[in-house]
Amino acid sequence: MLTYDDTLSLRERAERLQSAGVFLGGPLRKFETVGRNQLSILLRNGLNLDSKVLDVGCGCLRAGYWIMQFLQPGCYCGIEPNRDMLEAGKAVIVGPDVLDAKQPRFSNNADFDFEVFGERFDFVIARSIWTHASPGQIETMLDQFVKTRTPDGVLLASIKECPWYRRQYAGDAWVGKSDTSEEGGIVRYRFRWISRICADRGLNATRLQNEHGQVWVRIG
Ligand SMILES: C[S@@+](CC[C@H](N)C(=O)[O-])C[C@H]1O[C@@H](n2cnc3c(N)ncnc32)[C@H](O)[C@@H]1O
Repeated sequence: MLTYDDTLSLRERAERLQSAGVFLGGPLRKFETVGRNQLSILLRNGLNLDSKVLDVGCGCLRAGYWIMQFLQPGCYCGIEPNRDMLEAGKAVIVGPDVLDAKQPRFSNNADFDFEVFGERFDFVIARSIWTHASPGQIETMLDQFVKTRTPDGVLLASIKECPWYRRQYAGDAWVGKSDTSEEGGIVRYRFRWISRICADRGLNATRLQNEHGQVWVRIG
């Protein structure tokens, strides 16, 4: 059984998950950096101690580990349909003391239903999610964001940009690892398209910097 060991570093705990066959959300060598980067991008966009944050596709809490420790209790929510991945992250990456203290809330829904928490979010973060989601799934996330955001709520999503000479993904299905697939894969979108579907919903999209191989987009 996978349990928390506070004598191990974060990297060693991530290694332990990987050895047990749990998907880390990306490569082991980037586990700590990409997790910390998600707290950093939230802070640079105005995160406060009492902000309500939704982490869409929170995986094994690569980012949740950092974000929930910064926030006041009850402020962190995560959606992750891969139950084993989430439970392994809770047990090994975060551990019982932080879970007790920070009272995060989770949902395993795979429908991008942000309303399950009955909450208004100051921030929704989706790292390495739009790099796998279909156009329809991205539009669903935007619709849910509009329904659950606070008046100044911000969505931070990372993308891989589609170059002009390639077609952007137009399928209906998630591409990559999930609760139902062990197969990797990446999809790409043009910022122009994202900007347009945001404008259709009265939202403004701003392209931020490329950090660790993906471009952050700020939507609000
Ligand atoms: C590349 S991982 C990124 C995980 C996390 N955001 C991180 O940075 O570590 C993509 C995650 O999306 C999850 N996912 C797959 N289908 C999903 C869905 N329908 N709704 C929410 N998350 C989903 C996967 O299970 C996986 O944990």
